[in-house]
Amino acid sequence: MWILNGFGHERSGAGMSVARIGLAIIVAVVAAQSLQTAQAQGSGTLSAQSPALTGEQALALKNPAPFTPESRAAGRTLYFSNGCANCHGADGKALGDIFADATDLTNPRFWIHGTEPGQIFKSLRDGWGASMPPFKGTITKEADLWNLVNYIESLWPADRQPKP
Ligand code: HEC
Repeated sequence: MWILNGFGHERSGAGMSVARIGLAIIVAVVAAQSLQTAQAQGSGTLSAQSPALTGEQALALKNPAPFTPESRAAGRTLYFSNGCANCHGADGKALGDIFADATDLTNPRFWIHGTEPGQIFKSLRDGWGASMPPFKGTITKEADLWNLVNYIESLWPADRQPKP
């Protein structure tokens, strides 16, 4: 009887740990999913090693940062602290001899890499060719890149700007 009882305890003990493992797996899966959701919502973290987005991935992205004065002001600060003005000019027009072939950011009609929010995000994140540097290694919070997207859109003619 004692031995059987002992067995009984053993078995229920084993049952408990299976349940615990199951619970741990569920917790891990839920945590991974919420991390993915966080990244999809633009609060992920980037590094210089982050693989470049494909054009399709970029187009599918939605800007999670509302087009608010706060977001645009945060983007403006990033524009100047990350040297964008050195090539694109303080006003974004890339006039004069600042940097010969830098894009006029105020005139989306002449852009060549796309003006959808996700396409702008990709331009900043992954860069283009030898002259537009990738910023994923320096502006590592996706949320900051989205604020920068909002700031750039605020340089556009009023009828092209997103509705707040
Ligand atoms: C070293 C100079 C340099 C710096 C610094 C730089 N850019 Fe650029 N940028 C360029 C050049 C040159 C191009 C055009 C590249 C091309 O079309 O191949 C470009 C292209 C772009 C484009 C794509 C425009 C299009 O035609 O679709 C955007 C958007 C942009 N830059 C924004 C920025 C922002 C924002 C920053 C700062 C975070 C920045 N750039 C920093 C030189 C620079």
